[in-house]
Amino acid sequence: QTELSLRPRTLKQYIGQEKIKKEVAIYIEAAKNREEPLDHVLLYGPPGLGKTTLAGVIATEMGVNFKTTSGPAIEKPGDLVALLNELQPGDILFIDEIHRLPKNVEEILYSAMEDFYIDIVVGQDATAHPVHFPLPPFTLVGATTRAGLLSAPLRARFGIVEHMNYYTEDELTAVVLRSAAVFDSKIDPQGAHEIARRSRGTPRVSNRLLKRVRDFAQVAQKESIDLEIVDYALKLLQVDERGLDETDRKMLMTMIKLYAGGPVGLATIAANIGEETDTVADMIEPYLMQIGFVKRTARGRMVTPAAYSHLGLDLHDEKN
Ligand code: ADE
Repeated sequence: QTELSLRPRTLKQYIGQEKIKKEVAIYIEAAKNREEPLDHVLLYGPPGLGKTTLAGVIATEMGVNFKTTSGPAIEKPGDLVALLNELQPGDILFIDEIHRLPKNVEEILYSAMEDFYIDIVVGQDATAHPVHFPLPPFTLVGATTRAGLLSAPLRARFGIVEHMNYYTEDELTAVVLRSAAVFDSKIDPQGAHEIARRSRGTPRVSNRLLKRVRDFAQVAQKESIDLEIVDYALKLLQVDERGLDETDRKMLMTMIKLYAGGPVGLATIAANIGEETDTVADMIEPYLMQIGFVKRTARGRMVTPAAYSHLGLDLHDEKN
């Protein structure tokens, strides 16, 4: 086995997202047999679940180059033409936050994806003239937090659309054990499981917590990362028993203290906790909904009795 990296490189190394892996393995094998580029892929789901990593894995498995960019980084049609021009046939272009592409860039992507050409206007005023650019056949892998953020015409041009789900505790335990091996850190199974359990279903969080806990273990001269040092470190990091961090608790407490638990609108909550509405919608709320601490109603978000109980509050206490 070659040098181990924190990011898995092959489908075999990639932990979790079993349904996606099974499907994608078939599409990759079929495309390779036909000697065609893989169809365009849209990956959507909360941040930190490994969308970029999976895109890189797909490139490895296809045996093609992997080029990455993001929606906001492509400011004008010419930027996209430049990127596409550098591709070899079959290469993968990964566009993160693809919902943030400027409208005029998105529009030239349609023909690029469908028929591998771009028509743009070059020059200004009197010298302006249309230019037709043929492109190498390529695969676009787009990533976004919510599929609904994409316009219908863009979404329709992805032949493969996959929803990334939160990871189970067992899957995250495997991620933590693998990452600890990459760091050459000794860890107890109980320590790994505790980090996994408190990682909001998200490998990026697992890996971040593992790095911090490893620091604590090293300074405490622990032989191995055990349950005790995990507990101690996560308490200091203010990651609670369910893996909620300060921001999660701030959202819940604000909804309870200022709005009697709701219903309250997302933008109102965001303003009150000093976060962007998109951050609340994409990063904070989805996990709280997943574990049943927040629910959506027609009139806004509500805190559930389970969340009151977790926070040690009495649902019916007027003083909340
Ligand atoms: N590191 C982060 N995410 C991972 C995953 N899904 N599989 C393996 N290692 C990872």
